[in-house]
Amino acid sequence: MNQEKFDIERDQRGAYIEEILSKYLPKETGYQKTVLEAMNYSVLAGGKRLRPMLILETYRLFGGEDTSIIEPFMAAIEMIHTYSLVHDDLPALDNDEFRRGRKTTHIVYGEAMGILAGDGLLNYAFETACHSLNRNVFGNMTPEAQLMRLTRTAKALEILSVKAGIYGMIGGQVIDVEGTMESLEQVLNMYQLKTGALIEASMMIGAVLAGADENALKIIEQMASDIGLAFQIQDDILDVTSTLEVLGKPIHSDERNEKATFVAFVGLEQGKNEVVQYSSRGLDGFRLLGRENEFLRDMMIHLINREK
Ligand code: IPE
Ligand code: IPE
Ligand code: MG
Ligand code: MG
Ligand code: MG
Repeated sequence: MNQEKFDIERDQRGAYIEEILSKYLPKETGYQKTVLEAMNYSVLAGGKRLRPMLILETYRLFGGEDTSIIEPFMAAIEMIHTYSLVHDDLPALDNDEFRRGRKTTHIVYGEAMGILAGDGLLNYAFETACHSLNRNVFGNMTPEAQLMRLTRTAKALEILSVKAGIYGMIGGQVIDVEGTMESLEQVLNMYQLKTGALIEASMMIGAVLAGADENALKIIEQMASDIGLAFQIQDDILDVTSTLEVLGKPIHSDERNEKATFVAFVGLEQGKNEVVQYSSRGLDGFRLLGRENEFLRDMMIHLINREK
């Protein structure tokens, strides 16, 4: 589709995701008010909402229609992603002062509250995902439909917890922080975990909730892994070539932290080539699956030349 149509469609989905997030985020009342404000501050600052969009579009790729099962997961993945950013920006990690065009959560609310807001979002994400079994919807289904929904939700919860955990995103952050990268392979492995894992989780959850089988799920995982690598290499490139105004986060953060990025290893030009290579390989998934979703395909293509 042309750029104008794509922009309109993306904005429509973006607005829908903002609605879902507002619906599931906690109300800022009670003794925990400060941490609830900090949680909402970080999530509602905006962002591309790539991961919930991937859940939605992969769900559609497999013919999913009833959005009541995916909405809690769309909110949950964005909460987990946002918590990873709040913690990533802390002085002990990347020590960054801007995120999504505003001061980082720990700068506004203090370091302790930054840590707790991250913890809060991580836990609240799972609480939110469980709403997929909310009595209002679940209770009115036939026993067969209930069993199907239960099975799919359990699988999606498993994917979410594994991919966000020590063998997924957190594991990647650990390798990043230790910074003992000696080869390109090690860098790619770190990227696959710190960034790829949540992108894999998003697409796999969309697929599973629509009833995709194991074989299709493997293809989706590979597709998302390729997209994840392309996405993180592009993130490194933008850290060198963009501006704070466009990105909404500080540039040269990697250099300041002496990060062994992919781009530091191979240079900008080769980095750009690899973004194209990995994205193209990711797009191959549509052919392997024998399925098509025009918006999802265009989204992946747009990520190659993204400016933020
Ligand atoms: C930033 O993710 C962290 C990386 C994994 C590179 P995004 O670029 O998706 O950040 P937001 O959600 O749009 O702020
Ligand atoms: C972060 O990688 C990946 C996360 C899991 C948060 P970066 O440290 O490069 O992300 P940015 O550039 O701060 O968004
Ligand atoms: Mg980092
Ligand atoms: Mg960072
Ligand atoms: Mg970065």
